[in-house]
Amino acid sequence: MPDSKNYSLLQHILFPPVVLGKLRLLQALHQKTILITGASYGIGECLAYALAAPDIHLILVARTAEKLSLIKQELKAGGCRVTIYPTDLSKPEQVDQLIEKLLQLPNGIDIVINNAGKSIRRSINDSLDRYHDFTRSMAINYFGPVKLLLALIPVLKGKQGHIINVSAINVLLAPAPLWSAYQSSKTAFDQWFRCVTPELNAAGVTTTSVYLPLVKTRMIVPTAHYDNMPAMSPEHVAHIICNCLIHKKKRYAPWWLIFGQLGSVIFGRLWASVNTHHLRRGQKQ
Ligand SMILES: NC(=O)c1ccc[n+]([C@@H]2O[C@H](COP(=O)([O-])OP(=O)(O)OC[C@H]3O[C@@H](n4cnc5c(N)ncnc54)[C@H](OP(=O)(O)O)[C@@H]3O)[C@@H](O)[C@H]2O)c1
Repeated sequence: MPDSKNYSLLQHILFPPVVLGKLRLLQALHQKTILITGASYGIGECLAYALAAPDIHLILVARTAEKLSLIKQELKAGGCRVTIYPTDLSKPEQVDQLIEKLLQLPNGIDIVINNAGKSIRRSINDSLDRYHDFTRSMAINYFGPVKLLLALIPVLKGKQGHIINVSAINVLLAPAPLWSAYQSSKTAFDQWFRCVTPELNAAGVTTTSVYLPLVKTRMIVPTAHYDNMPAMSPEHVAHIICNCLIHKKKRYAPWWLIFGQLGSVIFGRLWASVNTHHLRRGQKQ
């Protein structure tokens, strides 16, 4: 995966670097237990490497046990304490088993990074016999994290902890065709998280919503037209999340998102008409 050092000029402008003080990070996370979901690949994997330090306990969750073991081996060699819990977060019974183990941790959990996710890009016409696309998107992007957090909120309150939600800029922009399953499930969780944020903050739990643009991970590989679009590197995203942890930021979004949001309000109907026109032409060909 490309590091930000390999960015084009456009990528540098769109995704300016974050200055990450490693010492400040170590001080902020001293003796913390950090749960990362979706830690086997992409952003979650890069984050595990960025956070690893001798006095930090990382708890890594994802389905691919072999990959988690590999990451654990490498991080342990650097002195970090790592526990892996291979879990399919879209299966409620597996989430229950995970919760049982997490609640037994003697030092509890200080930080939860809700990152695991799955995207599906499919037209509604190709989805007519695929109700399961919608249930599985909701299972991993909405119900799984809600179930997990309902169990962990009391622990996080006790530790005055921090929850970071890895969201997408699209949930704040005009809707895009072909993305109904993914975007509705990401939006559902984003709304849930923003609804509970004041209650969590009032109880001393810090919350951060991270709104990401395109990120160069395996998630975007199946979408060919993303190949030439500017994307962030997952290492860069890991730095952004570390920065949010140090400064207890409430929100991260790229600087230009506000223009996209204004454009969505002002030109939302035009955007929908352009999409309709484009899709109609595609159907005729
Ligand atoms: N890439 C982008 O352009 C982009 C943009 C905006 C937001 N995001 C968000 O960023 C987050 C991370 O995505 P990524 O780009 O790093 O994608 P990725 O490389 O595909 O990583 C996704 C992670 O989620 C885990 N995961 C998927 N389904 C799971 C399940 N049922 N149970 C447990 N873990 C599961 C995967 O591990 P296993 O396969 O081993 O389970 C993997 O570790 C997602 O929430 C995504 O929505 C990504």
